[in-house]
Amino acid sequence: ISLKPFNTFGLDKKARFFTSVNSREQLIESLIWSRNRGLEVFILGGGSNILLTQDVNSLVIKIEIAGVEVVDENEDHVWVKVGAGENWHSFVTHAIAQGWAGIENLSLIPGTVGASPMQNIGAYGVEIKDVFHSLRALNRANLEQKEFTKEECKFGYRESVFKNELLGQYIITSVTFQLNKKPEFNIEYGTIQETLKESGNEELSIQAISDAVIKIRQSKLPDPKEIGNAGSFFKNPTISIADWKALKESYPNIPGYDVPEGKKVPAAWLIEQSGWKGKRFGETGVHTKQPLVLVNYGQSKGSDIKELAENIQASVLEKFGIPLKAEVNFI
Ligand code: EPU
Repeated sequence: ISLKPFNTFGLDKKARFFTSVNSREQLIESLIWSRNRGLEVFILGGGSNILLTQDVNSLVIKIEIAGVEVVDENEDHVWVKVGAGENWHSFVTHAIAQGWAGIENLSLIPGTVGASPMQNIGAYGVEIKDVFHSLRALNRANLEQKEFTKEECKFGYRESVFKNELLGQYIITSVTFQLNKKPEFNIEYGTIQETLKESGNEELSIQAISDAVIKIRQSKLPDPKEIGNAGSFFKNPTISIADWKALKESYPNIPGYDVPEGKKVPAAWLIEQSGWKGKRFGETGVHTKQPLVLVNYGQSKGSDIKELAENIQASVLEKFGIPLKAEVNFI
């Protein structure tokens, strides 16, 4: 079947076999089915962080495990266990309606709850690790369930143990979040404060912050339903202070944020300075408002997007000496 409806780039690649599962038992059945046939398995969540460059010669399993359950609470916190297949933004909306704070800055991120810890999703000054309690995952080798604590997940900037040491070994089935009953507002990032003011939201609330984040995202990120994309295509690179100072001699406007390892430089800036912002090559392009986002205008092929990404990497490397790493997973 075509995977076009199942990846936000809207790429028309085929899966040899496809199934969706809504429980751990069904997931185990599907894994056994594929094992008996000597087939590889490809786990699909919301398909919002993948670039399909070829047909998938395996069993694609779409995780649709549902459920939002309060497992514990006290005066300050609520612990909520969420099925891996729940849509991330629907869960954010639900949390805000219940008055559970902590993920309002992560409004409107495409994808599923189960995929969110894989790359420690983040936006507007908040990362999932800030509200993460634990997760349950199925070991693909022995089909046993394992609970992972926050420490065991080894979260970093768009990183976790599941993208590194444990790559391909576990399938996340549920995530438990520790949310706050007493909100701690996080409005330092970018234009959140301005946006709040513009909309006349005098009183801070998690709903107002969510509305502001949604407004900002809609103003610069393309809606995958209209223009195929997978959000930021590259990670923001970190360079040494010395390298950053040297670049500042030639590029006095170079932005940079202090991080423990040095300076984090916005990839969007590097790409724009290298002349790529808004460039279009047939059906493939660099978004007009956010050059970190590569887009499929309709009939693009995965290989076109890959080629464009490689050209951008080469040109940023040549101009600034900085290698850009993809954030999107190539399939
Ligand atoms: N910039 C430009 N030109 C542009 C846009 C941005 O030079 O056209 C520079 C500016 O210096 C700006 C800076 O880039 O201050 C940061 O831009 P922005 O706030 O849009 O964020 P970003 O660093 O490009 C990251 C995440 C996004 C997340 C936003 C907001 C990564 C790889 N991306 O982008 O996450 O929404 O911050 O927090 O860290 C995603 O991961 O898919 C994603 C969309």
